[in-house]
Amino acid sequence: MSGGTLRLLQRLLVGSEERIARRWQARLMDPGARERRAFVREFAIRGRSDIPVGLLEGGGNWNLIGMPAERLISLRASIAGGTGTGKSSWLIGVLVALLRLDAYPVIIYDAKGETVDELLEHVIPYLLEHGLPDSFLDRLRVVRVFDRTNVPQLNLTLPQRGVPKEAQAFAVASAVEQALAEPLGGRMHHVLVRLVSLCIELRLPLTEVLRWLEDANGFQRAAARSADIALREYARQGFRAENKESLKALAARLNALLFWPDARLALCSPRALSFSEALSEPGLTLVHTGSPPAGAERLARFFGAALLGMIVRALLDREVRDDTPRALFAAEEIQESLGPEEARQLSRLLSTARFKREAVWLTNQSRSQLHAVDPGLVAAMRANVELNVQFRSNPEDAAAFEYMLPINRDGEAARRDLINSVARLPQRHCYLAVRDTGMTAQLVRAPRIDFEAMRASGRATPDETKERIRRGIVSMTRDQVPLVNVVDVTDAVDEVVDRPPLPEGTDEFPVLG
Ligand SMILES: Nc1ncnc2c1ncn2[C@@H]1O[C@H](COP(=O)(O)OP(=O)(O)OP(=O)(O)O)[C@@H](O)[C@H]1O
Ligand SMILES: [Mg+2]
Repeated sequence: MSGGTLRLLQRLLVGSEERIARRWQARLMDPGARERRAFVREFAIRGRSDIPVGLLEGGGNWNLIGMPAERLISLRASIAGGTGTGKSSWLIGVLVALLRLDAYPVIIYDAKGETVDELLEHVIPYLLEHGLPDSFLDRLRVVRVFDRTNVPQLNLTLPQRGVPKEAQAFAVASAVEQALAEPLGGRMHHVLVRLVSLCIELRLPLTEVLRWLEDANGFQRAAARSADIALREYARQGFRAENKESLKALAARLNALLFWPDARLALCSPRALSFSEALSEPGLTLVHTGSPPAGAERLARFFGAALLGMIVRALLDREVRDDTPRALFAAEEIQESLGPEEARQLSRLLSTARFKREAVWLTNQSRSQLHAVDPGLVAAMRANVELNVQFRSNPEDAAAFEYMLPINRDGEAARRDLINSVARLPQRHCYLAVRDTGMTAQLVRAPRIDFEAMRASGRATPDETKERIRRGIVSMTRDQVPLVNVVDVTDAVDEVVDRPPLPEGTDEFPVLG
């Protein structure tokens, strides 16, 4: 064999020496390359059920990385970064791949509502067009508190399966307190819990509490039907001895909270959606407490806290058997609805979710937002989060993320540069780390979501299907709510609250002064 042929053969089999040498040199100069290659090996996409989570550059190529759905939704995750960096899009990308499998219960809680709207208007139509069976819609639960057409079935005082009525009443009272953004005071909190627990026992809507605050005799008559001796006795004597001014103030605050007509419709609906039921079968539950009309922000906080409390309780109480499917609960912007009580429950959930076959994913813009609600929650996240997806963040969060970053042996300045790079990541770029691998975070680009194609699917979907998607299976149209149930709170407390009357012939929400 001539020298020329040999060189040619060598080139064909092992490549050009020059290129090999260049590659080796690059590897020597980039100590992170080995770790990146290990990462690519660990998270290479292998099968149809693998969920893509990012693109990682290596050897001049972009490698699509991801993991099997079962593994991905066994991880508790934090998806963090400043506004517009790509958190929600990353989540949507994962959901597109996950929902296509139609194998897991998924609950999305979204305090701002943008992600839920995107899912309803574009992503679900897109998935239906691309093979998701129509029967998916029979397992689609949608709660849009401020939807003008559909009323979610949110009778919060219907007894919830497996929840003691005292615990349920306490949660509703906490949601009220959270909505008012000022403590009720121990005494009035106690009164509220008792009244709410009577509503639960007698299957009456929450609005009934307003009547009773005004009418001690009415409360006593209702309480006479209670099986709870202490409550009957309280209605006969204790309640009458409560401070009248405090009761009036409580009624006024509750009325200001509940006078929005749609809230009363929701609270008086004949059913309450059950998150335990939602967690028992593959499907999607979307909870949207965003876009309240001007003046109803408190109501958004009230329903937000109440719903978040219900979801977290259902997750904590989930019974797990061998065949129980893994479930995903992802919450966007929870700090908007999180009171100290919900934060405590969520922290507990973060530490127990693994045993419940549940993944809890939280997106947030900055740790300081969560810290302001409850420092314990930040600590619980730090201790329990197994998947970190860190988009561009503020310098403090970037510094807190340092321990996840590749070890930099080139001195203090290089280390600082690396931290600063987290605060300067371009859109769609993030550091991704999976704790149980022991590997440090790798810089990845989120897979590009073809929003245009999804919008086109949305446009091509027949109106009837669109409406079916928006309504889901746990809402009714307004005219389906039996009006006989709806307590008119305005009658009950007119003397207590001085407020502008609703303009004739309109149900628009007047702005509160
Ligand atoms: N993976 C992606 N594919 C396609 N477009 C993207 C992607 N990531 C981000 N974008 C674009 O950037 C915009 C902002 O991204 P996104 O809404 O995901 O940010 P965010 O981090 O959730 O922001 P916020 O905290 O304000 O909710 C998107 O509307 C989209 O146009
Ligand atoms: Mg977002």
